[in-house]
Amino acid sequence: MRDALEVIFTRQSIGDLKPDPVPRELLETILLAAVQAPNHYKVRPWRFVVLTGTAREKMGEVLAQSFAERYPHAPASALEKERAKPLRAPVIIAVGVDKPTEPRVSEIENICAAAAAVQNLLLAAHALGLAAKWRTGEDALNPHLKQFLGFAPDQHLIALVYLGYPAIEVGPANRPGFEDRTVWRE
Ligand SMILES: Cc1cc2nc3c(=O)[nH]c(=O)nc-3n(C[C@H](O)[C@H](O)[C@H](O)COP(=O)(O)O)c2cc1C
Repeated sequence: MRDALEVIFTRQSIGDLKPDPVPRELLETILLAAVQAPNHYKVRPWRFVVLTGTAREKMGEVLAQSFAERYPHAPASALEKERAKPLRAPVIIAVGVDKPTEPRVSEIENICAAAAAVQNLLLAAHALGLAAKWRTGEDALNPHLKQFLGFAPDQHLIALVYLGYPAIEVGPANRPGFEDRTVWRE
């Protein structure tokens, strides 16, 4: 296990992944890391759907069909692109958020907790030598995809984490610092 700060500083979004499968044990470690996230009232608002193998092909079919519905004149190549999207990774972890069921729990807090779980998940994947990319875009708002994943229409789908072994080596991230986003008050 790498030092926590080193893992945080070296994590990067990587979308270029090998097709090699990821052992179930590693996926379980990653999910266990995800659920260590803070969550107000301990409601555990996160929901994970792990897609591997042919489940990704079924997801691609859902994306292609829904694309065809939205863009009836789309060329076959565009539909094929949609169909192939989930095949970019051997594993996709979709993350949904529960709606609050009691007045003291707020929707934004549940979303924050689930997002913290996603970050834990990304860091754990990186610590284990895997690579990942948190994706959303139109797919995260797609009601057909939500239904396919078993989420209710009013449940937020906050992440489609594409996960696998990295196919490329990336250089340093060189991110801007915190200074221009921080004020100090005494
Ligand atoms: C809520 C959220 C949604 C994101 N959606 C996408 C996406 O749809 N496509 C994509 O390429 N990257 C997506 N990203 C990843 C960001 O593009 C990425 O984190 C950013 O480029 C910084 O790169 P880094 O993660 O390597 O620091 C998303 C990140 C977050 C937090």
